[in-house]
Amino acid sequence: MANRTVADSPTAEDREFAFSTSDYDYLRAMLKEKTGIELGPTKHNMVYARLAKRLRKLGMSGFREYIEFIGSDAGSGELGTTLNALTTNLTKFFRENHHFEHLATTALQEIRARAVSQGRRLRIWSAGCSSGEEPYSTAITLLRSMPDIKQWDAKILATDIDTEMVRRGNEGIYPAAALEGMPADISRKYFEPYGDDKVRMVEEARNLISFKHLNLVGNWPMKGPFDVIFCRNVVIYFDKDTQRVLFDRYANLLAPGGFLYIGHSENLFGITERFKLLGRNIHRKIA
Ligand SMILES: C[S@@+](CC[C@H](N)C(=O)[O-])C[C@H]1O[C@@H](n2cnc3c(N)ncnc32)[C@H](O)[C@@H]1O
Repeated sequence: MANRTVADSPTAEDREFAFSTSDYDYLRAMLKEKTGIELGPTKHNMVYARLAKRLRKLGMSGFREYIEFIGSDAGSGELGTTLNALTTNLTKFFRENHHFEHLATTALQEIRARAVSQGRRLRIWSAGCSSGEEPYSTAITLLRSMPDIKQWDAKILATDIDTEMVRRGNEGIYPAAALEGMPADISRKYFEPYGDDKVRMVEEARNLISFKHLNLVGNWPMKGPFDVIFCRNVVIYFDKDTQRVLFDRYANLLAPGGFLYIGHSENLFGITERFKLLGRNIHRKIA
């Protein structure tokens, strides 16, 4: 999904709705508490731009009224919409493709070798999956590199806190432009035309994935073990303590020797000693 733009955000003087520093601080603290996401002190315009349309739709006069509403019983349903609006969902198919190459050439080969004694079970988790491009790229990688996949108990779990992203991922429908730059043998085989300018993931890829709403800083129902976890471009918004807890929980859920892929601007230095860096933000669980 393309990122929302704030390029044309109004300045404080010509804003349609009153938005004070304390309104901003309240929303910022609420987002941190509920999701782990830290906005930093200078994202007023972004928050304003993302929430102003909600205020307009609800016929509200300013952010103070909106904040009171989401804190009330009557507005509890709106809170999810507030959180959806404040998450950043930028993603694309085969983003940071070296992770999918590593999955195909190394991780799946190891898992296949282990299957001789441990059975053909494969579990992959895309944590912070946004609108589904990451887990679908994973599904395509499995379908391309495991011709015998039907003989495996193979499942991909895809989770996100943003309910709208989970809905879109589950649907698997994308603008045709999302396939730009993808090799034609992949786009032709794994996407089918859907309406005028859209494509849909083929059923065999959709069937590999379960999309679920899940808050990474909340309770997790899964028991694992997972062979591979993707958590890419998610923790950049979390503080170090939140990251420490999260990566510890990932290590607990990964199988011995399991793989963790993190985003290009993320690292585990000073966060956890339970992983060994293999290269290019690819980690192996060692403890
Ligand atoms: C920038 S996107 C990254 C998507 C994908 N992993 C990628 O690298 O292309 C970050 C995603 O993390 C999700 N996210 C942020 N905080 C979360 C939380 N506490 N629990 C679950 N998902 C969260 C956001 O909703 C967003 O969809």
